[in-house]
Amino acid sequence: MNRLAIYPGTFDPFTNGHLDIALRSVRLFDSLVIAVTTNAKKTPLFSVPERKELIKKSLPEDVNISVESFDGLLVDYAEKRGSIIVIRGLRAVSDFEYELQMALLNRRLKPSIETIFKMPSEEYSFLTSSAVKEIALLGGCVDGLVPAAVKSALIEKFKEKN
Ligand code: PNS
Repeated sequence: MNRLAIYPGTFDPFTNGHLDIALRSVRLFDSLVIAVTTNAKKTPLFSVPERKELIKKSLPEDVNISVESFDGLLVDYAEKRGSIIVIRGLRAVSDFEYELQMALLNRRLKPSIETIFKMPSEEYSFLTSSAVKEIALLGGCVDGLVPAAVKSALIEKFKEKN
């Protein structure tokens, strides 16, 4: 059986922590889709097409990962894609409550869906997209925190905004 896993998120923007989770995950499955969507609780800096493009530019060439976007419920998208596996990163205890709620609600909505949590490398356990945006906005250095394409896009975006 061909096992496809889905790694959903806002990815605004994609960080080295996200990349680490994606690369760790794809080793366990035949293929992985990074699925970009909007989060009603967040106002994004980058549009969905911009985020998709930045993720594509950040992935190594020889890896079985594709990048898509979806609207609506994650469980409906997963079913449409023929996947029962949702990957989420878990950095610290502070992530746990939100992630547990989401995993259990998704299970309630579609019992066949399994959420699998992956721990990032320690060096990314403190890393969030929000922190990266704030650092970039305030002129700090984001080297090592985000892929090169994302760093350039952040610089451009904040130039446009100022
Ligand atoms: O990167 P994020 O913002 O933590 O990702 C959260 C995301 C996008 C995975 C979550 O909000 C989601 O699945 N949104 C799609 C709509 C949905 O299915 N909502 C019900 C979740 S219980």
